[in-house]
Amino acid sequence: MSNNQQQSQNSTKTNVFTTYTILYTTFQIIGLALIYNVYYWIINYRGGFSLNEPKLIFNWHPLLMTIGFIYFLANSILHYRTFSNHQKQSLKIQHSVIHGYVIVLVLLAACAALISHVYASPPIPNFYSLHSWLGIFTIVMFLSQFISGLVSFLYPGASIKYKEIMMPYHIYFGVFIFVLAVITAVTGFSEKLIFALDKEYKKFPQEGIFGNFLGLLCILYGGLVVYMVTKPEFKRNPKLEYEPLLSNDSP
Ligand code: HEM
Ligand code: HEM
Repeated sequence: MSNNQQQSQNSTKTNVFTTYTILYTTFQIIGLALIYNVYYWIINYRGGFSLNEPKLIFNWHPLLMTIGFIYFLANSILHYRTFSNHQKQSLKIQHSVIHGYVIVLVLLAACAALISHVYASPPIPNFYSLHSWLGIFTIVMFLSQFISGLVSFLYPGASIKYKEIMMPYHIYFGVFIFVLAVITAVTGFSEKLIFALDKEYKKFPQEGIFGNFLGLLCILYGGLVVYMVTKPEFKRNPKLEYEPLLSNDSP
């Protein structure tokens, strides 16, 4: 390769790295702002958190879902691109462990909604809304993807051929599940605002505007993450890293 070609390749790599760094910083700022604003909404408009009072037990639901299914899930699906120069085997373990945290947070969040329904007086029926159906669908898809990911890519017995066949489906369903989680969260915000504000919602109250803003922020975050995880230039380049012979650099 000539010197000029080498230089132009290096400068493209630097540009891609700079663009990713700028987007990644924006991604972290929006993600943390989203979590803080959900917390702020609950503290200032929804009465805060409790472990005894059913109405306030519910408030853990949006906060833990936002942290788990939006922020942690996004960080995990971007993990290979963010730490692209790390060894693949450690990235696989970290990718799986972060998803493990997502499972814990999501199950706690689902329990918070269930408990608040069962112990309300009179009790509120479970799983009647479109939001709750979307939620169940997202959780089931996520758990299936987690098991299939472990079996296909971490279990040492899986053949290279099988991994190669599974990888495109793993990536497609991974992005699909994240998009589903964003849609579910947005329907959750919308539904809660309608339940809580009822006729007042039409009068543009402060909480209504703030809640709409939370939904928009969620969508903006989702759009950014999907862009970052599907842009081919940002994909981890397996050739850049050191891997021992016959290791896991296959999918
Ligand atoms: C992506 C994350 C989310 C998932 C997977 C999810 C899932 C669920 C599920 C499965 C239920 C049914 C619980 C039951 O019937 O006992 C539920 C209820 C509920 N969720 Fe979420 N949720 C998410 C985020 C949110 C957010 C951000 C809010 C905003 C406040 C919210 C508001 C509600 C409300 C008001 C209910 C009770 C009414 C109903 O059953 O629809 N959810 N959610
Ligand atoms: C529900 C949980 C999971 C979701 C939502 C998910 C999602 C994703 C997504 C979106 C990608 C594409 C990343 C990129 O193109 O940079 C990916 C890549 C990958 N995932 Fe998962 N994943 C999950 C669980 C797992 C598990 C448990 C493993 C087991 C090790 C795993 C192994 C991999 C591997 C090896 C790649 C390829 C990375 C590369 O070659 O750059 N995933 N995953």
